[in-house]
Parts: sequence; structure tokens; C-alpha cells
Amino acid sequence: MSKLRKKYLEHLLCVLIFFTYVIGYGEAQSKSFLVDCGSNTTTEVDGRTWVGDLSPNKSVTLQGFDAITASTSKGSSVYAEIYKTARVFDAVLNYTFEGITQGNYFVRLHFSPFAIENHNVNESSFSVFADGLRLMLDINIAGEIAHKNLILESTGHNATASSLVKEFLLPTGPGKLVLSFIPEKGSFGFVNAIEIVSVDDKLFKESVTKVGGSEVELGLGGRGIETMYRLNVGGPKLGPSKDLKLYRTWETDLSYMVIENAGVEVKNSSNITYALADDSPVAPLLVYETARMMSNTEVLEKRFNISWKFEVDPNFDYLVRLHFCELLVDKQNQRIFRIYINNQTAAGNFDIFAHAGGKNKGIYQDYFDPVSSKNDVLWIQLGPDSSVGASGDALLSGLEIFKLSKNGNLAHLIRFDSTGHSVSDSKMRIIWISVGAGIAIIIFFVFLGILVVCLCKKRRSKSDESKNNPPGWRPLFLHVNNSTANAKATGGSLRLNTLAASTMGRKFTLAEIRAATKNFDDGLAIGVGGFGKVYRGELEDGTLIAIKRATPHSQQGLAEFETEIVMLSRLRHRHLVSLIGFCDEHNEMILVYEYMANGTLRSHLFGSNLPPLSWKQRLEACIGSARGLHYLHTGSERGIIHRDVKTTNILLDENFVAKMSDFGLSKAGPSMDHTHVSTAVKGSFGYLDPEYFRRQQLTEKSDVYSFGVVLFEAVCARAVINPTLPKDQINLAEWALSWQKQRNLESIIDSNLRGNYSPESLEKYGEIAEKCLADEGKNRPMMGEVLWSLEYVLQIHEAWLRKQNGENSFSSSQAVEEAPESFTLPACSNQDSSETEQSQTGSALHNSA
Ligand SMILES: *[C@@H]1O[C@H](CO)[C@@H](O)[C@H](O)[C@H]1NC(C)=O
Ligand SMILES: *[C@@H]1O[C@H](CO)[C@@H](O)[C@H](O)[C@H]1NC(C)=O
Ligand SMILES: *[C@@H]1O[C@H](CO)[C@@H](O)[C@H](O)[C@H]1NC(C)=O
Ligand SMILES: *[C@@H]1O[C@H](CO)[C@@H](O)[C@H](O)[C@H]1NC(C)=O
Ligand SMILES: *[C@@H]1O[C@H](CO)[C@@H](O)[C@H](O)[C@H]1NC(C)=O
Ligand SMILES: *[C@@H]1O[C@H](CO)[C@@H](O)[C@H](O)[C@H]1NC(C)=O
Ligand SMILES: *[C@@H]1O[C@H](CO)[C@@H](O)[C@H](O)[C@H]1NC(C)=O
Ligand SMILES: *[C@@H]1O[C@H](CO)[C@@H](O)[C@H](O)[C@H]1NC(C)=O
Ligand SMILES: *[C@@H]1O[C@H](CO)[C@@H](O)[C@H](O)[C@H]1NC(C)=O
Repeated sequence: MSKLRKKYLEHLLCVLIFFTYVIGYGEAQSKSFLVDCGSNTTTEVDGRTWVGDLSPNKSVTLQGFDAITASTSKGSSVYAEIYKTARVFDAVLNYTFEGITQGNYFVRLHFSPFAIENHNVNESSFSVFADGLRLMLDINIAGEIAHKNLILESTGHNATASSLVKEFLLPTGPGKLVLSFIPEKGSFGFVNAIEIVSVDDKLFKESVTKVGGSEVELGLGGRGIETMYRLNVGGPKLGPSKDLKLYRTWETDLSYMVIENAGVEVKNSSNITYALADDSPVAPLLVYETARMMSNTEVLEKRFNISWKFEVDPNFDYLVRLHFCELLVDKQNQRIFRIYINNQTAAGNFDIFAHAGGKNKGIYQDYFDPVSSKNDVLWIQLGPDSSVGASGDALLSGLEIFKLSKNGNLAHLIRFDSTGHSVSDSKMRIIWISVGAGIAIIIFFVFLGILVVCLCKKRRSKSDESKNNPPGWRPLFLHVNNSTANAKATGGSLRLNTLAASTMGRKFTLAEIRAATKNFDDGLAIGVGGFGKVYRGELEDGTLIAIKRATPHSQQGLAEFETEIVMLSRLRHRHLVSLIGFCDEHNEMILVYEYMANGTLRSHLFGSNLPPLSWKQRLEACIGSARGLHYLHTGSERGIIHRDVKTTNILLDENFVAKMSDFGLSKAGPSMDHTHVSTAVKGSFGYLDPEYFRRQQLTEKSDVYSFGVVLFEAVCARAVINPTLPKDQINLAEWALSWQKQRNLESIIDSNLRGNYSPESLEKYGEIAEKCLADEGKNRPMMGEVLWSLEYVLQIHEAWLRKQNGENSFSSSQAVEEAPESFTLPACSNQDSSETEQSQTGSALHNSA
């Protein structure tokens, strides 16, 4: 009996030991925890199983306040499903993760603000600690998200973030990891999900090159890291399911670029490998398959950097990791560039091919950069290396910025309110407003005193000064800037009705527009732009019109559309395409313009079967558009910069009168105390002012440059960028300029012109174009000078024509008819607007893509 019993017990023991072993083993191997906070279910997301923390679980325990759970329903992220619930706490909440083996772990905290009773998520404020390391301090999640969106909006991108994921890399174990969530007194906190992912030790090296210095030891064993940015440069966003080793998210880089046009995307997805097999955890191969490379340096002088700019927390050390993979060149010494981090050289003479030991091989480089307490941005720039003769276009595949903990802290001290502005900023603003108000009140009283004194004196002397101040005088553009600001502030919900109904002409009904365009018949479409399509239409009375219809929900289009309305509703000039009216029924945004029967200037130069324009017609078209531009630049106190001067934006009416169109990119000029407007570079390649491109500072002289390119295009009748031509001819501006500098422009002009122009006029014309293309804006003429000079050129040519005619037909009467209408500079004030009005409505608009 006892033998049997002993055997039975032995068996039992065995089974017990086996189970303990299995459980123990299972826990020791538990390399990741995926917790869906406040949920009672397990959910499959991004290929992994997330376990709700309401179901009992031995290895994840909660202590402290009996947290309530909240159901939320926000967001469109991959994680929307697990963001539906959250844990809310108004006292300390501890998450304890048991059975962690020693090593490095990514700890990701997911936050997705929501609305629940008795809690305003805009006011939540809490701190997070991990085993004593401070990860966040009194953080307001809604404010952090709003701040991210503000930055995106300021760079012209869609602000779409509705959730926040904070990623930390912590050395931890063996044993347990405690995450403590501590609400600020009187406030509360929340968390939607927590993930803990084991990280390969090879992800970071202990010693790293300091920017501008020697190697430093990072001391990662005792330091925490926060991931600030992780970008798949030149490629799409990669979600966790594309990075199956570590489930990281790689964002796109465009919104961090200082000048978006400076880089183009390159891609090759065949046979990409890691240069070192050990590097496979560093980044998925997808990151190396795409890259961004300096754009068009074949044709632009290589005197610019391709730059990214990041907001960082001051007074921390950063680790910048750059990923490279040579996708194009297959030799050493073909692509050599310089890497700058915060304006210091991090590496010179950098050759990806040489570093990686071949093409299509991914490598990375780490740089250590301490950011001082005075600095809150980090610049990463790649540029030409002037120390080597032949330098190629810089290229970058991926970029990561990590913040290293300092004295047990990783948290930033800035807080953002729910509008995304830093709290100290808004406090300062209030102080300044108060100070300002105080000063204003004092000034007001002083002024009042002076006024009273003056009035008394005036009464006594009874002098009448009204002659000095003619009544009714008022600058035409008084309100341009205000309304631009208003249009921005309304964020797209601009109502045409209220904007400027009085200045915008007639209001059309949608039925009228439908009738005029045969219900937006595609056969009547004459152009497509960023905002939508342009149609030719005919009103009941037979008037031809051009109709620009915004695609609904096109954010970018909407912004340009608004600019166009604001600009055009205040501009009336014979050489600007005029607005006839608008239609805003049923959420449509439709603008009605005069119809420009002869379409774009470019269509008459090349690429179509239209008969070539004569030299005189070309000169007149240039003069017309110069007049329009001159009016834009000088017609208002601050002037308006067109920003997109090109031959497809110069339209010709039935009499070949040229008019400028497309004010979607226009900007009000600099105010008195500034010499330029800082702005992201927009415009069209081939016409783009290199100085604007380099310095991002917009002046009227950028339009002058583009106009210079138009002048060369008009005389050479070829595309401004033609990649099929030999290298030195690709860019018209460079090519034509080199011929002009040799005083030999006639050898490259349109063959249709040969023999039909006055050589002296061409010579002068070339000189004007050359001046317009001066490298520095200050050496370029004003638009008024260009206009005057072009008129002079036309006179020379007409005199020559008269001479030719006189010799050929002995008839001078025709020549008299052809004499220029006037020889004065165009008026720049109100009078000029009366010159135009709606008198030439028969004509029309064409639009360029
Ligand atoms: C407990 O949670 C961990 C981490 O999310 C999970 O891997 C494990 O399967 C859970 N255990 C049970 C019994 O649900
Ligand atoms: C969670 O689900 C379990 C059974 O699946 C149930 O016993 C428990 O009451 C649930 N808890 C809550 C808070 O809904
Ligand atoms: C939470 O964890 C911290 C650190 O481990 C500990 O000091 C604190 O007492 C814990 N609080 C509760 C309520 O368990
Ligand atoms: C902005 O959002 C709109 C619609 O939501 C989309 O059509 C457009 O492409 C987005 N623009 C950018 C730059 O992402
Ligand atoms: C991609 O790289 C492979 C291997 O070097 C090469 O054969 C192929 O032509 C490249 N593809 C493109 C589109 O450049
Ligand atoms: C890609 O790699 C495979 C195996 O290494 C090789 O057979 C193939 O030729 C390579 N293709 C190209 C285009 O280099
Ligand atoms: C590129 O940036 C660095 C650092 O800001 C600067 O020193 C250098 O002059 C720039 N190069 C060019 C060509 O603009
Ligand atoms: C770095 O250079 C950029 C322009 O290239 C400038 O705006 C920025 O202020 C500079 N930063 C520092 C720290 O000098
Ligand atoms: C939170 O703040 C945002 C922006 O200031 C505001 O739009 C929203 O209505 C606020 N939410 C609550 C619940 O107050």
C-alpha cells in the first residue's frame, strides 16, 4: 500500500515539478508584454496579441488606486481597437511586470485622449517613473499632441495626430519592472496601452563619435533612452507590422525638411542587404530601400545643403543615428558629401559606397551631440564637401534621434496647454499683454491730454487744415494682410459671402454654373491645378467664362484657393486675369474668371501646333506680363510677390494681350522692418530663384529671376528643364545665360525668329534677361526697370520693322498703327484699377497644371 502511495506521490511530484518548470520557464522567457489597459479581452493588433489588464494575470499586476476604466472611441491609428479603452487614475497606479530577464527593453506607452464624465482630458497631468528613472513629468497628453500638430501645420502639412506613443529604451531585470503613474495633485492621468519588447543588445554600441570631437562612452548600462524621432527618409511610413523584430514605427521625413524641394526620393527594392549581418535588428530592409537625395543638382549649382530640423529638449545629450544605403552609383568616390549636426561637421568626405563596401548595402552611423540649455532645435544637414573636387549629391535613407537620460531624468520641463502652446509662453504672453495694455493706457491718456490742448489751440486760431488732407484718399490694399490672416484663422471654413462679396463681383447660382459647363462636362475642361479642374463655360448671354472648381476636401487646394480669392478680389489690372464672380452653394468653391481665348503663352512657344509668335508678339506678351508683375510688386504698401512666374501662368486673350494668372502661391511682401519674407520654398523648378532656394527668403527679386527665365524661354522656345538634352543644356537658365555671357544669344534662339527681328533689340533683350538672372537678388533690377527696358526693346524693333516695311512696301501708315500705345510706366495706384475693370470680359482663363 505504502509503496503504491509512495509511487503515486512521486508521480505527483514529477508532474508538479514539470508544471512549475513550464510556468517558470514560460515566465523567464516572457520577452514581451502587451497590455491593453482597461480592457477585459484579448485583441489581435499589428500581428500581436494584446491582453486586457482586467482579466487576472500573474505576470502583470496592478497596485494602488483601484483605477477606473474608460471606453473611448477615437482615432484611425492601427491601434484604434486597443485605444477604445483606457485606465484612468487619480492616485498612484503601479504596473508591475514580473519575470523579466536582464537586458534592454523598449517600453512604449500609448496615449489616446478621450472624453469621459467628470474628467476633462485637456486638464490631465501626470508623471511616469520606471524603476526610479523619471520618464515624464506633469505631462499633458492633449497638449503634447496639439503641439505636434501645430508644428506639422506650420510646415504646411496635415495635422492628423490624435494619439501619442512614447518610446523608451530601458536597461532592466532580472526580476520585475515597475511602472509608476503618478497624477499631479488634484489632477488625473490615463494610459491606453503598454508594451514591453525585448531588444537585441546589438542595437547600440557603447562607444560613439562625438560631433566635432573624439569617441565618448555612452554608459548605456545605467542610462535610459527616449526615442525622439524615427524616420524612413524618402519613403513611406512604416508601421509596426513592417518592422517585425522590434515593432517600431518609422515616420515620413518630409514635414521635417527645411526646404522640401531640396530633396527627391529614390528607391530600389531589389537585393538590398545589410552590410554587416549583425545589423539586422537596427532597421528593417525597407528603410534602406528608399532614400532622399539632393534634387536636380545636375542643373542647380551644388551650393546648398539638404536640411532637416527637429525640436528637441534643451540640456540633454542626443544620439543621432543616420542610416545609409547607396542605391545608384556603383563605384567609390562618386558620391562624397559632408554631414553636419547642429551646424558642426560630424563627418567630412563621407562616401556611402566605401563605408558599406558596395552598392545596395545598408549601414548606419551614430553621432553623439550634447544640446546646450540655450538650444531647442537640432539640425541635420548634408551638403557638398568643398574640400574634394568632384562631389556627388548627398543621400540619406533613415534617421533616428535618441535622447539620453541625465541624472535619472528623461522628462522635458516644458508643458503645453491644450492648444499646443507652451504654458510658459502663454504666461509670458499674458504678462506682455498686461504690460502692453498698461503702456497703451498711459499713452492713451497722454495722447488725450495733447489732443485736448491742441483742440483748444485750434479753436482759438480757427485755422482750417482740411486742404492738406484730401478726403476720400485710401490705399487700395489696406486690408490685404488682414484678410490673409483671417482666411488662415478660419481654417478653411472661409465663407465667400462674408469675405468680400462687394469686391468679388457677381454671385452665381450652382444651376447657372452647371448650365454654363454642361454639368461640368469633362470635354470642357481646359486645365487641372492643385485645387481641382478649370472649365470653359458660356453664360446665357453668350459671354465666355473660365470656371475654377475646387475639389472638395482638398486641404492644400483650399489654402491656395483662399489666397487666390483674397488676392484677386482686391486686384484689378489690365494685365492680371480678372475675377467675374463666384459660387459657394452646396459647399462648392467655384471662381469665375474672364476667358482667355488664346491660352497660355507657353502653348504658343513650343509643344503644340499653334503658329509661332512673331518677335513683336513675344515682346508684347513679355511687356504685358511685366506690367502685371510690376503692378503686383508696387501697387500696395507691402507689395505682393507672385511666387510662381512661368509661361503657363501667363495667359493671352483673343487679342494676345498677356495677363498674369494663378495667385495661389502669392504672398504679401515684406513689411517695412523686414527685407524679406521667410517661407517654405514653393514654386516651379527651372524658374526657382537659387537665392530663395538657398536662404528661404522671399523677395520681389525672386519673381524677377523667374521672369528672366521666362524671357529666355520666350526667345529660345524650349522647356526650361529638358532632361533629355546633354547635361549642360538641361537647364535653360544656365545654358542660355552662358551663351548670353558670350554675347552670342542669337545662336540659340528659336529658328522661327530668324531674319525677323532687329539684332539690336535682341542684344538689349539678352542683357535684360541676364540682369534678371543675377545670382544675388540685390544685383537684379526691379520689375519697373525690366518693364521700361523691354518697352525700349520694342521701340527699337518697331523702328527696325518700319525701316523694313519702308524699304519693302513704301507704306508707313501701317507702322504708325503699330506704334506702342504709351511709353509711360504704368500707374501704381487706384487709377490703374479703373483702367481695367470688367471691360474686357469676353476673354478668358486657362490654367496650368
Ligand atoms: C499575461 O500577460 C502577458 C503579457 O501581456 C501575456 O503574455 C500572458 O499571456 C498573460 N497571461 C494570461 C494567463 O493571460
Ligand atoms: C471580465 O471578464 C470575466 C470573464 O471573462 C468576468 O468574470 C469579469 O467580471 C469581467 N470583468 C469586468 C470588469 O468586466
Ligand atoms: C509603486 O511603486 C513604487 C516604486 O516601486 C513604490 O515606491 C510605491 O510604494 C508603489 N505604490 C503602490 C501604491 O504600490
Ligand atoms: C491632407 O488631407 C487630405 C484629406 O484629408 C488629403 O487629400 C491630402 O492628400 C492630405 N495632404 C497631405 C500633404 O498629406
Ligand atoms: C536596383 O539594383 C539592382 C542591383 O544593383 C540593379 O540591377 C537594378 O537595375 C536597380 N534598379 C533600379 C530601378 O535602379
Ligand atoms: C540578387 O541576389 C541574388 C542572390 O544573391 C542573385 O542571384 C541575383 O543575381 C541578384 N540580382 C541582382 C539584380 O543583382
Ligand atoms: C551647410 O550647413 C553648414 C552648417 O550649417 C554650413 O556651415 C555650410 O555653409 C552649409 N553649406 C552650404 C553650401 O550652404
Ligand atoms: C544652424 O544653421 C541654421 C541655418 O543653416 C540656423 O538657422 C541655426 O540658427 C543654426 N543653429 C545654431 C545652433 O547655430
Ligand atoms: C480641449 O482643447 C481643445 C483645444 O483647445 C478644444 O478644442 C476641446 O474642445 C477641449 N476639450 C474639452 C473637453 O474641453
